[in-house]
Amino acid sequence: DCPASVRKQLGRLFAQALTATVPTQPDVVPLIDACIAKNGVKHADYQCNNAMSLFAKIKGKQEEFKNPRSLGEGIMKNLPQSEMIESCSVAGPGFVNVVLSKKWIAQSVQKLLTDGIDSWAPRLPIKRVMVDFSSPNIAKEMHVGHLRSTIIGDTLARMLEFCQPECLIRRNHIGDWGTQFGMLIAYLFEKYPNPDAVNESDIGDLQAFYKASKLKFDSDPDFKLTAQQSVVKLQGGDPKYLKAWKQICDISRTEFNKVYQRLGIRLEEMPESFFNPLIPPTLEKLEKLGLIEDSDGARVIFVEGVDIPLIAVKRDGGYNYFSTDLASLWYRLNVEKLDWNIYVTDVGQWQHFDMLFKAFRRAGWLPKDENEYPICTHIGFGLVCGDDGKRFRSRSSETVRLVDLLDEAKRRCKVALLERDNAKDWSEEEIEKTSEAIGYGAVKYADLKINRTTNYTFNFDQMLNDKGNTAVYLLYAHARICSIIRKSGKDIEELKKTGTVVLDHEDERTLGLHLLQFTEVFVESCSNLLPNVLCEYLYNLSEIFTKKFYSSCQVVGSPEETSRLLLCEATLVVMRHCFYLLGIEPVYKL
Ligand code: ARG
Repeated sequence: DCPASVRKQLGRLFAQALTATVPTQPDVVPLIDACIAKNGVKHADYQCNNAMSLFAKIKGKQEEFKNPRSLGEGIMKNLPQSEMIESCSVAGPGFVNVVLSKKWIAQSVQKLLTDGIDSWAPRLPIKRVMVDFSSPNIAKEMHVGHLRSTIIGDTLARMLEFCQPECLIRRNHIGDWGTQFGMLIAYLFEKYPNPDAVNESDIGDLQAFYKASKLKFDSDPDFKLTAQQSVVKLQGGDPKYLKAWKQICDISRTEFNKVYQRLGIRLEEMPESFFNPLIPPTLEKLEKLGLIEDSDGARVIFVEGVDIPLIAVKRDGGYNYFSTDLASLWYRLNVEKLDWNIYVTDVGQWQHFDMLFKAFRRAGWLPKDENEYPICTHIGFGLVCGDDGKRFRSRSSETVRLVDLLDEAKRRCKVALLERDNAKDWSEEEIEKTSEAIGYGAVKYADLKINRTTNYTFNFDQMLNDKGNTAVYLLYAHARICSIIRKSGKDIEELKKTGTVVLDHEDERTLGLHLLQFTEVFVESCSNLLPNVLCEYLYNLSEIFTKKFYSSCQVVGSPEETSRLLLCEATLVVMRHCFYLLGIEPVYKL
C-alpha cells in the first residue's frame, strides 16, 4: 500500500468511477499514467486509459456507449468529487485526462515539510527480505565486478529498507572456502615455519601471496601434493590448519572492510564456510526426495529445461559453489524464514541461480509458479568495461584494485576543489571530506544511473564532469540550493511553521508536481529493482529546479520569498533522500 502515490490516489477515484459506469465489470484495474509532454507541451498531468480496452468487453451490452470515447465520457462523469482534481477532459479515442489542483499540490508539498519523507514511504507486501551482495572471495582481491555488486546491492537494500519490511538482511556471502586454501596454507607454512610469528603485514598483499603460491603449485609437484594434503587436513578440522586458514581470511577481511568503510556500506557476513556442516543434511533431504543421481561418479541434479545437470558433489567427493548454495538457500528459507531472497551478481551467473531455484522448485521447497512476488530473485548486472569496450583492466592487464580506484577518484576531486577560487576558504578537513563525498559519490552514481543489465564503461573524466548527468552536477545543485537558503538569512524551521506554499507560477507548479511524483517513481524503481529509474528522477529534479524554477522565479527578495524558500527546502528534502537511497553523501557547501 502506498497512500502518498499520486497515481494510486487517482487510481482509487477511478476505480469507483469505473464500477459506477460499468457495474457488470466490478474488478477492472484502473490504468493510470502520468502524461508525457509532447514537443514540450503537456495537456494534463495524468490520464486514465481504461475506456479502450473496457469498451471491447462491454460492446453491445451497454447501449448508451457507442464507442470508447463515449465510455470515457461516462467514466469522467462518474469520477467522485475530489480536492485533488482541478479539471478533467476526454481526449482522442477515450483517454480521461486529469489536471491536478495546484492548491492540492501545494498542500501536499507543505505536508512533506511538516511530516518528513518517511510519510511518503510505501509498504512492502513482504516481511523478511535478504539482499546477498558484494560477496567477494578470500585471497583474491575485490575487483570492479564486486564493486558493482556492492554498489547496486547496497542501493537495493536501502530502497527496500525505506519500505519498512519487518526484517532486512544485508548478507555478505564471502567465499572463504575451497581448494585454493590448501595451496595458500602450504605456502604459508613453507615461508613461515613458525606460523605464530606471522603477522598481517608479512602477507598483507594477499593477491601477490596467492599468485606466488599458485606459481609454485603449478610448477612443483611435491608442493602440489603437500597442498592437496593440506586441504584434507583443513577439511578434517586439524587445529593448526584451521588457525592458518583463519589468519588468511582475517587479512582479506581487513582489506574488504576498508572498502566498505570508505563507501559507507553495511553488511553482515555469513561466509561460505558457515554452511559447510549444513551441506550433508541438505543433500540427504534431496536424496530422499529422489532428486540426486549418479553421473560418472559425481552426484548431480537435473532440472527442467537445462541440458547439463547441477553438480552437487564432485567426483572426488568434494563440495563446490553449488553445494554451498543449496545448503545456504535451505537455511535462508527454513531457519531464517526469508520470504524474499535477492542475489546480486554479474549476469554471467544467471544459469547458476536459474538451476539452483529450479532444483528447489523440483524439491517442492519453492512454489512451482513464482508470482508477482517471487521468493528468490537473481539480479544480474553487466560487465565493467574500459574505454576500449573490453573488460576493465589496468595497464599491467591485471584486474584493477578497488582501493586504487577509489583513491584516484578522490585525488581527482581534490585537485578540482583546490583549483577553485574559494579554495582558501576551506579547511583541510573540509577538502578531504568533500573530495571523498564527490569522488565516491561519482563512482557510485555512474554505475547506478545506467540500467544495471547493460555493460558499464568506467571512465573517470565522464563521471567527474560537473555538467553532465553525474553525481558532481547533482551535488553542486544541492549545495547551490543550500546556499540560496543561507543567503536569505531566514530560519527555515520557523518558515515551515508560519509560511504557506503557493504555486502560482507555472514553473513552481511543475517543480511541486515533480516532488510529489517521488513516491510513484520510487515504487517503480523498487519493484523492478532498477536504481537507474530513481537516478533519472533525481536528475530531472535538479534540471527542473535549475532550468525552470530557479531561472524564472526569483527567490530571495521577491514578494513570494517565503513560499519559494519552502519550495527550495522541499526540493532539498527529496534530493537528500534520493542521495541517501543511492548511498551518496550530500555536500552542503561548494
Ligand atoms: N563469491 C561469489 C563471486 O565472487 C559471489 C557469491 C554470490 N552469492 C551466492 N550466494 N552465491 O562470484
